[in-house]
Amino acid sequence: MRLEVASKLNPALTEIPAASIAPARTMLDWTPECDAAGNRPTILIVDAEDINRRVLKAMLRAAPYRLLEAIRPTEALAMLEAERVDLIVIDLVLPEYSGAELCRRIKSDRRTQFVPILMLANVPGVENEIDSIAAGADEFLMKPLHPEVVRTRIKALLRNKAAVDSLEEAETILFALAQAVEARDKYTSGHCQRLAYYAVRLGRALGLLDYQLTALHRGGYLHDIGKVAVPDAVLFKQGGLNEQEWELMRAHAVRGEEICRPMKTLAPVLPIIRSHHERWDGTGYPDGLKGEQIPLLARILQIADIYDALTTARPYKPAYPRDEALTTLEEEARRGWRDLELVSLFRETVCGYGAFPDPALAASLPLASPLTLSLENMRREVSR
Ligand SMILES: [Fe+2]
Repeated sequence: MRLEVASKLNPALTEIPAASIAPARTMLDWTPECDAAGNRPTILIVDAEDINRRVLKAMLRAAPYRLLEAIRPTEALAMLEAERVDLIVIDLVLPEYSGAELCRRIKSDRRTQFVPILMLANVPGVENEIDSIAAGADEFLMKPLHPEVVRTRIKALLRNKAAVDSLEEAETILFALAQAVEARDKYTSGHCQRLAYYAVRLGRALGLLDYQLTALHRGGYLHDIGKVAVPDAVLFKQGGLNEQEWELMRAHAVRGEEICRPMKTLAPVLPIIRSHHERWDGTGYPDGLKGEQIPLLARILQIADIYDALTTARPYKPAYPRDEALTTLEEEARRGWRDLELVSLFRETVCGYGAFPDPALAASLPLASPLTLSLENMRREVSR
């Protein structure tokens, strides 16, 4: 039903028939070939013993890997600064400090935390394995090494890394698309960032869990992504819209949900995208949800959205002062459009301890990148 409506509004929204889609490749189809940019997977071997490095290189010679070598941890870290590396093989015993310590440093750096690490040891003892895994190593092998086991483990680690990379690329594209949508309107510059900030502040005041705060933050950026399907002539039309144009405009909520649905990591954001134009009294869209039927995160984002629209200048109105904006929100709540309790809490959050900065300052605040926030979840999902 939803798809039917979307297709009627805009032929470009018609779904591709399932039969015409080629069967999806599975993770087991993955081979260590070049990536989309034509790069071979790069493996860094960190081992103080020349003979050990040569043995490993011999085992991996037949595969299309680009191999780098380092003897010391500091040398390895310098290479990671300079090169894109897809996997690191570390010997447990190294000069300067141990392989486990090197592993810990690599995994605690945001830039390298998702690079898989295979730890090698030649000293028997389960403690070494426990220490290595606790330090963040993804795999642990005891010497003497069996060539086929090494190759299989390395291939499996690179396969997971490729999956994380492709999720990262897909999510980066979605956020770039959302920002491109925002950039179409010069009057809404910084809106998404402020919205994410206000929504997370209100979410914190409600004691929401981390994953819900992350959803609010992402929702700030992605809620209007469906406007990519709304023509400029409708989006920026001066004066009133006719019924057909309104229908096109209202479709952005459903369209946005459809765009983001394929990304499993965005599942908690979908109700925000779909329901951010619902009204407490059931007169909103797209589903006419009423009261607490409207997902809480969508109600939060909606209040933040309206507050930001009121406190920033638009071509048809000046920026309202904070109190006037809050009064308008409260009037809308009394009219039955918004969740009155939530609006009252929002007022406390805005005016109370650690009150919001003005919108211009909020826009310049360093918020954690939505991409960075999501990578942790993506990694968990891939390794599941
Ligand atoms: Fe919207």
